[in-house]
Amino acid sequence: MLPRTQGVKMSNFNFLVCSFIFLQMWSFLLVAAEDDSSSEVKIEVMFKPMECSKKSKRGDLMNVHYDGYLAKDGTQFYCSRSDKAGHPQWFVLGVGQVIKGLDQGMNDMCPGEKRKITVPPSLGFGKEGKDPVVPPNATLVFEVELYSVSKGPRNMEAFREIDLDQDKSLTKEEVKRYLKLDYERSGTPKDDAFYDKIMEDIFKKNDLDVNGLITSKEYNVYQHDEL
Ligand SMILES: *[C@@H]1O[C@H](CO)[C@@H](O)[C@H](O)[C@H]1NC(C)=O
Repeated sequence: MLPRTQGVKMSNFNFLVCSFIFLQMWSFLLVAAEDDSSSEVKIEVMFKPMECSKKSKRGDLMNVHYDGYLAKDGTQFYCSRSDKAGHPQWFVLGVGQVIKGLDQGMNDMCPGEKRKITVPPSLGFGKEGKDPVVPPNATLVFEVELYSVSKGPRNMEAFREIDLDQDKSLTKEEVKRYLKLDYERSGTPKDDAFYDKIMEDIFKKNDLDVNGLITSKEYNVYQHDEL
């Protein structure tokens, strides 16, 4: 592949070299065009709820089920319903907690919405793949269902709301209480075990020094769009 700038610099050379370069540039452009068509996520909305309480954006806390397939032959390589005891996965959107293709493909999505997202290798696991489940250069297809979007988990307003005793750190009880509140507010209350599981997951990902508390510093690691 020949970068364009190099072609321009080389244009002072004799005709033969130039025409060679020109051909090279053509093939580069062709490759680029090919790359272009496959370097973006393709989003198909399979189901959209009538009402959309909130649309997902960067920095939101997402709760989703997703199944992953290889586009090539439909082999399933990931299923969040059977992995990790089948509870929906939590992640913060747009900050690299999931592959780029999902960060992009799950933007602007309503709770309850289902999408089929086709991810080119460049936005997935690239030319290395992910041993042993995803081969090199694999295009991936995800079927995702968004359960809930929590608003601005990384802004300090939300932090203060979770931090009931206002001591600038979140205990497991505070996080669990907030989760419960959040689910009840969205009209889908769950049982205690469900909240426990999610809360443990949140602490595993965020309580970096494993002292049982999420400090404001541990919490506020992602820049939120609104800040
Ligand atoms: C993956 O793609 C890259 C460039 O697109 C290529 O160089 C490499 O050989 C491919 N790997 C496999 C295993 O096909």
